[in-house]
Amino acid sequence: MTIQEIAALANVSPSTVSKIVNGKDKDISEATRQRVLKIIEENNYVPYSRYRKEEHMRQRLIGMILKDSYSYAGRMLRSAERAVIPRGYNLISRIVDGSPESIADAVREMQHLNISGLLIYSDQDLGEYTGGLNTVYITDNSGFSSSQGSTFYLSLYDAGKLAAARLIREGHTKISCIALKEHSSILYGAEEAVRRHGEPCRMAAWHTGSDLDDIITGDGLESCINDSVTAAICGSPEIAQAVCGYAAAAGICIPHTLSVISVGDESSLKYAAGGITAVTLPFEEMAEKAALYLLDAISQRKSAEATKSVPLSLTERRSISPPAPAPRETNILVVGSLNMDTTLELAEIPVDGETQIAGGILTLPGGKGGNQAVGSGKLGGNVSMIGRLGKDPDGRLLHRSLTDNQVNVEGIEFDTVNASGKAFVYIDRSGENTIVVYPGANLGLDDRQLLRHETLFQKSNYCLLSLEISAKAAAATIQMCHAHDVQVMLKPSAVDKLDSSLLCHIHYLIPNERELHKIIPGELSLEEKTGLLLEKGVKNVIVTLGKRGCYLRNAEHSIYFPSAPFTAVDTTGGADSFISALAVCLSQGQDLIYSVVYASYAAGITVTRYGVQEALPDRKTIGIYRSDIEKMYEKIISQEKKQ
Ligand code: RIB
Repeated sequence: MTIQEIAALANVSPSTVSKIVNGKDKDISEATRQRVLKIIEENNYVPYSRYRKEEHMRQRLIGMILKDSYSYAGRMLRSAERAVIPRGYNLISRIVDGSPESIADAVREMQHLNISGLLIYSDQDLGEYTGGLNTVYITDNSGFSSSQGSTFYLSLYDAGKLAAARLIREGHTKISCIALKEHSSILYGAEEAVRRHGEPCRMAAWHTGSDLDDIITGDGLESCINDSVTAAICGSPEIAQAVCGYAAAAGICIPHTLSVISVGDESSLKYAAGGITAVTLPFEEMAEKAALYLLDAISQRKSAEATKSVPLSLTERRSISPPAPAPRETNILVVGSLNMDTTLELAEIPVDGETQIAGGILTLPGGKGGNQAVGSGKLGGNVSMIGRLGKDPDGRLLHRSLTDNQVNVEGIEFDTVNASGKAFVYIDRSGENTIVVYPGANLGLDDRQLLRHETLFQKSNYCLLSLEISAKAAAATIQMCHAHDVQVMLKPSAVDKLDSSLLCHIHYLIPNERELHKIIPGELSLEEKTGLLLEKGVKNVIVTLGKRGCYLRNAEHSIYFPSAPFTAVDTTGGADSFISALAVCLSQGQDLIYSVVYASYAAGITVTRYGVQEALPDRKTIGIYRSDIEKMYEKIISQEKKQ
């Protein structure tokens, strides 16, 4: 299109058009000027470059300056470009480090290019650098400088507030927030929402990291995703993805155990953990609106002077649900022994008159009851213990090990006469063990002590019982469980025979092979012996078979489970670990087959280390094997279906 054609369309002379495009239009009426500019604009008329240079005419060029650290820079750039190009403008951008010098350099460089206007990401007035240049600011901070003139903004602070308010509305009171440092206002906004709501709502944990790597490799996820938190605000979609991965590995279910909301949305969140709810941050819309506003200001030859906020919205998906109801105050009760274990490492277990020299000695807290209680506590179970300790240094250490591992010790009593129980554990080269127990105070546990703590039976679903206490106390425990509808899991160690009248009250009998043959002596097979126990009223029998895994027998199933793939160095406490993990998993609502696989992994992890209580896995450790557990479970289920 030529200047003559523009003139003809506007019904003016070519010299009038020339005056207008070169800014020498003082003697031309505003109506004519606007008419000509409109036609120039509509026809995308670009004057000769020679003309533009010589006459200092503005290029049809918009400058955009963004900070390099800013994670939304790319999106804003693309969107501004989409806005200006159809209007016959081009966009030139500079990504700067945000220092005043870098901004000043970028502005100077752009002015040399004769840009028509400038979009700049900043919450500071940069008038001293931009001079008379038509400038529109964009920012994510509602607290921008009041003198900076035309500004389009969205508020990350409000986004944090909105996210927290959404979680609070769902009933969450223990909320965490993980964000990049540059987005700290999300945390401040969330804190404000929590503070306004008041007790019992609280910011249970927060973390700001310099970048995503810092958050993932530091302790950001660990400190913000744990039992003390029911909901997490993630400062970006990338952080939300990392939280989903972390939760999956730790066996935390979104949204049943943890609700998650992302500040910032993107399409990948549709599928993460079944869909993550997000506060939508309209960065693209903000950049587009700012760019269009700037173009209007340029074409109307007036300075931009608007202050406009871009509204936030919520995209609901499936990652928020009400916090899980507080679990029953106590749902696993352990009744059993507490021993101080002296473990001797030997080449072989000594036989008949033999003397052996031990390769190592360890003294560590143990006892089947203590081990099972600590195992349950470490895996996140709500566990209480009824047991008896001597009033001696061992007693204090054993007590401490329970409290250190979140075991409710109100049922533990101290015996003023008898010493704490002791166990002497021999470990041979292959990790197999032989144990001699001196019960001491354990034998003082009687029905009166059980009755003093009857409320613990009332509150429990499962009772883990082992027999290094008196037979009378064990029988009384089974009766009390029956009376209070508590399912008994019995480890029949150190007994030759089980009272048949009690067997019908046992929900889970968990012997090893040797223990099974003591209870049902004779030449019968494993399947036949467990079958006999079912006939006597035991609901489920699980025979632990060491390296060969375990065998489950109940009315529906007869299944051999492989062992978890670990190499044993000390098998002591493997069965205690199995039983506590089984109870925790069942108490969390998992099915029996899954719980047996989970328990096999817990036991497998335990036997890779010396000692018991130290070696028992916590939730995080077993979480590492979650996908292996699921694979083994799927395999067993599919084999079962084929049969
Ligand atoms: O099951 C292992 C435990 O048996 C040891 O800790 C020992 O104390 C004995 O009770």
